[in-house]
Amino acid sequence: MTKEEALAEVAKRIAACERCKYVPNQNPVPGEGNPDAEIMFIGEAPGAKENETGRPFVGAAGKFLEEMLNSIGLEREDVFIANIIKYQPPGNRDPEPDEIALQLPFLKKQIAIIQPKLICFLGRHSMGAFLGDIGKTISQIHGQLIEKDGQQYLPLYHPAAALYNGGMRQTLLDDFSKIPEYMDEIAPSD
Ligand code: URA
Repeated sequence: MTKEEALAEVAKRIAACERCKYVPNQNPVPGEGNPDAEIMFIGEAPGAKENETGRPFVGAAGKFLEEMLNSIGLEREDVFIANIIKYQPPGNRDPEPDEIALQLPFLKKQIAIIQPKLICFLGRHSMGAFLGDIGKTISQIHGQLIEKDGQQYLPLYHPAAALYNGGMRQTLLDDFSKIPEYMDEIAPSD
């Protein structure tokens, strides 16, 4: 099975997960991008626009994410973009721990298929889902490479949080600008 086929299989299982849906017949947002991506971006949960289209980060936060990708010479299609939660929670509320526990295995499977060199957390929820309580907040460790169990992670602020906060917006752009260097460190190209 190719990576593309394996990812399509996971997307099918997400679409079939009735317990994951908040309303009947809800659109799944499994995630999308390059099956061979070296970098994955993990957000929290789909919002209204994502729920409508079935695609991650297509609203205002997604526009800013694309702008940041472009700022380091990347397009959406070069990376893989996904969320921990695959369906829009009611009223965009934060996902509950039991919902994360139910849905996280889908994302873990996507990661196992893609085998990215770097996983960028977009916001504290995705950071918490992978790193647990490490005694540090995202404001303390954003932009710093973290290794856990042989996987490299980069915590970043969530682009939605930065939309109306000029300082945070610049911080996110600055953190993004470090990604090419980090990639060179992780996977030097000769
Ligand atoms: N915010 C997220 O965390 N994920 C999306 O897909 C869109 C907005």
